[in-house]
Amino acid sequence: MAANWKMYKTASQTVAYFERFRPLLQGPSPCDIVICPPMLSLPAAVSAASGSNIAIGGQNMYWEKEGAYTGEISGEMLYAEGASWVLVGHSERRRLFCENDSDVLKKAQAAIEANLSPIICMGERLDEHKAGKAYDVLIRQFASGVAGLTEEQFAKTSIAYEPIWAIGTGQTATPDIASEAHQIIRSEVEKRFGSDAAAAVRIIYGGSVKPDNIAGLMAEPDIDGVLVGGASLDPVSFAKIVQAA
Ligand code: 13P
Repeated sequence: MAANWKMYKTASQTVAYFERFRPLLQGPSPCDIVICPPMLSLPAAVSAASGSNIAIGGQNMYWEKEGAYTGEISGEMLYAEGASWVLVGHSERRRLFCENDSDVLKKAQAAIEANLSPIICMGERLDEHKAGKAYDVLIRQFASGVAGLTEEQFAKTSIAYEPIWAIGTGQTATPDIASEAHQIIRSEVEKRFGSDAAAAVRIIYGGSVKPDNIAGLMAEPDIDGVLVGGASLDPVSFAKIVQAA
C-alpha cells in the first residue's frame, strides 16, 4: 500500500501527518506500507516513521551515483537518507519531464544497485485507452523497460499499473479493467521471467484510489496493492485504504 504525495507537504507538514497517521494503524500490518514524500521532506518522514513498519520511498532518482547533474538526486543519496523504495517512471515524470522507457530501465537498475526497491510505473493515455490500445501500450512499455532487467533484478521490483486517464480525475478504473490490465502485465512477466516470478511479483494499481473504492480493487486476486495520490494526503483517508488491505 503505497502513497505518492507528489509535490505536497513540507517537512513540518510531514511530521504532523505522521503524528496523526501512526495511531490510526491498528496492530501489525500484514502488508508493506510505503510513503513517498517530496525529496526535501524525506528525512523528516524517515525520522517520523522510525519504530513503525512504514517504509519511505523517493518519487524519482537519477541513474548515476554522483556527478555534474544539476538538480538530480541518486539512489545512493536516497538510501543514505533512509529510503528503501523509489517510484520509477511515473506518468507525470514521463509526460512533464520527458522520461522514456530506456530512462526508466536505467533508473530501476540503478535503484536496485543502491539497495532500493523500485516500483516501475506504466499505463496508457486516455486516447490510447479509447482506441482499445491499452494492452499494446503496456506490452510495449514492458518490452522496452522492465524486460531489460535481469531475473535477479526483477525479483526486487514491483510494478504499478496507473492508467493516465484515471490519475487525479476521480475516474478510477473499474476492478475488472484494472484486473485485466494486471493480467496482461503478469503474462508478460511470465513470458520473460517465468511462472515463479509472475506469481511473486507485486502489481499494484494507481489512479483515483479512495477509501470507497479500495475494497472492490483489493478483492481482485491480480491486484496486489495500490499506489495512492490525492487520497494519501489525508492521514485518515490513507489509513482507511491501508486498513482495507
Ligand atoms: P491519484 O490517486 O491522485 O489519482 O494519483 C494516482 C497516482 O498518480 C499515484 O502515483
